[in-house]
Amino acid sequence: MTEDTKKVPEHVAIIMDGNGRWAKKRGLPRTAGHTAGAKNVEKVCRAAWELGIKYVTFYAFSTENWKRSEEEVGKLMQLFREYLVGYLSKIAKDNIKVSFIGNLSVLSDDLKEKIANMEESSKDNTGLHMILAINYGSRDEIVRAVNRINERAAQSGESPVRVTEQMISDNLDTAGIPDPDLMIRTSGELRLSNYLMWQLSYSEFYFTDTAWPDFDTNELKKAVDAYVNRDRRYGKA
Ligand code: FPP
Repeated sequence: MTEDTKKVPEHVAIIMDGNGRWAKKRGLPRTAGHTAGAKNVEKVCRAAWELGIKYVTFYAFSTENWKRSEEEVGKLMQLFREYLVGYLSKIAKDNIKVSFIGNLSVLSDDLKEKIANMEESSKDNTGLHMILAINYGSRDEIVRAVNRINERAAQSGESPVRVTEQMISDNLDTAGIPDPDLMIRTSGELRLSNYLMWQLSYSEFYFTDTAWPDFDTNELKKAVDAYVNRDRRYGKA
């Protein structure tokens, strides 16, 4: 193992899966699982910072999640609203910087305004950088990045443009944020579900059967311990 692999991950990306199953097991509606899941975000942020993690990206709503029932989508949007208002007051105390990724343009105007407020009011905070993925899909993000590159090139009369990896990275929603070192998916599913496909190219993956609302400090420590013992070779022998 090299010194580098013994380090705590700088950036952890999380797929918060299993809210629905968590609720069903308790005889509750699926939406109760999302409420419990939203509460857990705050706890995991605190635990992550204590462990020395600098960035955490949460998959809160995918471009495919619009296919869920109107009731469930409405509840999730309501949770984002409540969360954005409720957490805003605590963010200064916790020194958390919040950013959003995903195609936010289709969200309701009030939600967009709350998102902009939260980003603006936390932009100079120096603690944990929390990134929330809302209406996020990796394929959609890459397509938007390529279109942005093309539009800029066309504006400067430089068409067709020779696209480089760096240009794509610089035009993704995550521009300026280091790629995740560790990706955690809770609740037993072993797939990526259109999450950060470009950024996770060299990340370590950790899967646990624990449902997201039960994923506590101890579970995060287990994931970080597993990461610390991995040998990251980045294609080297
Ligand atoms: C996946 O579980 C979870 C989601 C699609 C939503 C995640 C959202 C939250 C945890 C709450 C909102 C977060 C913030 C920051 C306010 P699932 O519903 O697919 O669970 P299942 O696979 O058991 O049905």
